[in-house]
Amino acid sequence: MIDPKAFLKFLKGRRSIRSFQNKAIPEKELDMILDAGRWTPSASNRQPWEFIVIKNKEMIEKLSKTLFYGKFIKEVPMAIAIVAKIKNSPKWYLIDTSLVSMNMMLMAWSLGIGTCWIGAMNRGKAKEIIGLGENDHLLTILPFGYIKGEIPEPTPRKPLDKIVKYM
Ligand SMILES: Cc1cc2nc3c(=O)[nH]c(=O)nc-3n(C[C@H](O)[C@H](O)[C@H](O)COP(=O)(O)O)c2cc1C
Repeated sequence: MIDPKAFLKFLKGRRSIRSFQNKAIPEKELDMILDAGRWTPSASNRQPWEFIVIKNKEMIEKLSKTLFYGKFIKEVPMAIAIVAKIKNSPKWYLIDTSLVSMNMMLMAWSLGIGTCWIGAMNRGKAKEIIGLGENDHLLTILPFGYIKGEIPEPTPRKPLDKIVKYM
């Protein structure tokens, strides 16, 4: 088991990273990120997902053009498209794959690798570039890379007394 205080500190220390070094991610680290995704819980254990590892620079460049606030993905050596298989779990695919993204982001952070959840994109165009089908929902494209420059300051969080109710 992980020391709980160290774990909370780790969770609080994670940041969205939008500036990356031009340095490849070793296969061993990539495998750990993918494995963390694989071990995500899912409704009825349906695992309605597919992970597409994109290292092709040209494809990353093309995808960057479909993003509204994610042009920075151009800099990364690798991105993972998290794809939900809609028919495999019509009710829960969004939740299951969202959890995958968190597992992957935290695994990456533990390896000193930065990422950022990318939500705002032209999904139709991005799906076309990746070659996804009708049954596929492109949840996000997570860029992965070693952090360039300083780790950003934390973004503010609402205080617990504003978001927690006790009954
Ligand atoms: C569902 C979702 C969509 C997001 N979409 C984008 C995005 O399109 N571009 C981007 O730069 N950041 C995006 N983010 C990152 C958030 O801006 C970021 O997580 C938030 O500001 C908190 O900062 P932190 O991750 O450093 O704690 C998204 C995050 C989530 C969870």
